[in-house]
Amino acid sequence: MPPASPPLVHTIQEVRRHLEPLRAEGERIGFVPTMGALHQGHLSLVETCARECDATVVSIFVNPTQFGPNEDYDKYPRTLEKDLEALAPYGVDLVFAPAVEEMYPQGFQTQVLVGGVTELWEGRSRPGHFAGVTTVVAKLLNIVQPQVAYFGHKDYQQSVVVRRMVRDLDLPVQIRVCPTVREEDGLALSSRNAYLSPQQRKQALTLSRSLQLAREMIHQGRRRAVDILAEMKKLYDQQPDVRLDYLAVVDPETLLPVEEVAGPVVVLCAAWVGQTRLIDNLRVEP
Ligand code: PAF
Repeated sequence: MPPASPPLVHTIQEVRRHLEPLRAEGERIGFVPTMGALHQGHLSLVETCARECDATVVSIFVNPTQFGPNEDYDKYPRTLEKDLEALAPYGVDLVFAPAVEEMYPQGFQTQVLVGGVTELWEGRSRPGHFAGVTTVVAKLLNIVQPQVAYFGHKDYQQSVVVRRMVRDLDLPVQIRVCPTVREEDGLALSSRNAYLSPQQRKQALTLSRSLQLAREMIHQGRRRAVDILAEMKKLYDQQPDVRLDYLAVVDPETLLPVEEVAGPVVVLCAAWVGQTRLIDNLRVEP
């Protein structure tokens, strides 16, 4: 018999009702927020959560407020049935899949805004994106009230922004950031990879290859960020169908660009492959 799908609820009240007895018994509740279209990257977060916590809650909500007006909100894959099947082997205690009206009922007027770290990179390319992310994550954390919440390193800036929000608002939750899961050839798993044609899928490797190149250069003793970025950029220039958005070598905490690699850095990249915008990053220690 295949494992049974996890219990699914759609309302905030049902989440609270479901989790109250677990909390009363002192269970450690772990939470994995997602937008669904689950892949091995999400499932590795769920697996870690299930290993480290007594109860695992997963949310599946394609959050409209984090998409810009010309972004892919409408076409973002919605695959609830498949997602529930994918979660079945992990002993997930609860899946929360609210409707938009449940999260943003009529009259909703509040935003959670983080400064500084949201103003760079993704924040610059996707105005309003992080306001949507922090608002929905703050709401989800309030609804589930987990002890630990799990995020992927793949959305590195998001993880920095969420940690900043949690510290600044004294939210009683630990944020765990788990490694990016990659295909064998290096492509970082992303729900948006589903948009790529086989040809674009090959071109998308430019992102992970440019990051590997940066890592090799740093490991070979190269320290000047401009030199590293120039070599990375050449890879994009060789791919006419890949349009670079940004490349950066940044401080892992502040996300500010570094001139010289003197300690751990995160190398960030964002590029369009056809109509699909992809991001990736790599932490490198010199
Ligand atoms: O990383 C994501 O999938 C989303 O940004 C999140 C954290 C679930 C908020 O909608």
